[in-house]
Amino acid sequence: MVNWFAIRSHFPGVSHTCYLNAASLGLIPDVSVKALECFIKQRSLGSMLWLEWYSAVDDIRRLVSRLIGSKSEEIAFVQNTSMGLNLIANSIRWSRGENIVTTDLEFPTNLFPWQVIAKRYGLEIRYVRNVDGSLRREDFEKAVDKKTRVIAVSWVEFGNGFVNDLGFLSKLARENDALLVVDGIQGVGALKIDVRNVGVDVLVSGFQKWLLGIGGAFLYVREDILDNLEVPFAGWLSDKDSRSFEFREYKPSLDARRFELGSPSFADAIVARESLSFIQSIEIENIERRDLDLISYLRKRLSEYDNIEFMTPKDNLSPILTFRFRSWDTKAVFEYLLEKNIYVSYRLGGIRVSPHFYNNKSDIDTFLDLIGEYLRKRRT
Ligand SMILES: Cc1ncc(COP(=O)(O)O)c(C=O)c1O
Repeated sequence: MVNWFAIRSHFPGVSHTCYLNAASLGLIPDVSVKALECFIKQRSLGSMLWLEWYSAVDDIRRLVSRLIGSKSEEIAFVQNTSMGLNLIANSIRWSRGENIVTTDLEFPTNLFPWQVIAKRYGLEIRYVRNVDGSLRREDFEKAVDKKTRVIAVSWVEFGNGFVNDLGFLSKLARENDALLVVDGIQGVGALKIDVRNVGVDVLVSGFQKWLLGIGGAFLYVREDILDNLEVPFAGWLSDKDSRSFEFREYKPSLDARRFELGSPSFADAIVARESLSFIQSIEIENIERRDLDLISYLRKRLSEYDNIEFMTPKDNLSPILTFRFRSWDTKAVFEYLLEKNIYVSYRLGGIRVSPHFYNNKSDIDTFLDLIGEYLRKRRT
């Protein structure tokens, strides 16, 4: 039995506000804050512990690989999700006439790099359009062909929390010799994934949301595809012999470290390491169960209002739920909630709620009570 009450006590953020916004930024546990304070005190005194700070990145590789079922050699620590996706888009050896399949539900960071690359190399981008908030298998099947080089999707879509079927997309990619590139930031840390079983080629995720960090991201690249990529950048840390400062010819690292060019943000790395360890101590299976339980409670309670239209498809299994009001100004309700210290997001015309394991049903009740209060005020 997990002691969720004790776990919640590690998050001062829950006592100040009603915070249901992990899809925007997650709360940071006190243990990670302490680790950061300790680092900044040490760092202010000089370089003495620099090797220890670098070891945070090796620990991240190990912890992430355990979380997603990869090898640690397949993980690079990069600045953010956008950088990870750009590194991959720029490392593929493209040929004119190839195409990229993505969707109309992507966050801009999983669109813009592909659009830039498409322009540069004369590629086609095919957008799978959502139908009532869902991306359908048959529409991917229609879009993908032998000229498809990449299928680029989010694991969990940012706007409405729709979960893509990565197993299906991986099979489709394999059948067409394409790569499956996944923006995982809205899923990793909340839901369980095994990249090897699912067959993901590339998975990128920032630490700032469900992984309870401040910044930085991991980039997973399946080892079998590594040598087909040509990293267009080089730095002292991406070299095979990164601790040698001799004058020499560059040779890229044999593993995913070839994507790490120069000094990492130690602050990001130290917080990410601590938060990953914290998540590991709870176990991702427990977190997933807890997050999905909270979201299904929220959905059930919201279904009592007939004025509400869900933008998240029914039976969707992610901790994000987005809805709007049929006959009221949804933005005005969102602003009312914000005034009352309720933190959710306004996305694509809807209110997006994203509880994480540090929340409990009382937080959701507080949110619902405030919605009820708004509705009563509107009627009087
Ligand atoms: C799906 C998705 N991808 C990426 C990002 C952020 O990317 P980055 O880590 O580059 O800031 C967000 C949200 O901020 C997001 O929702």
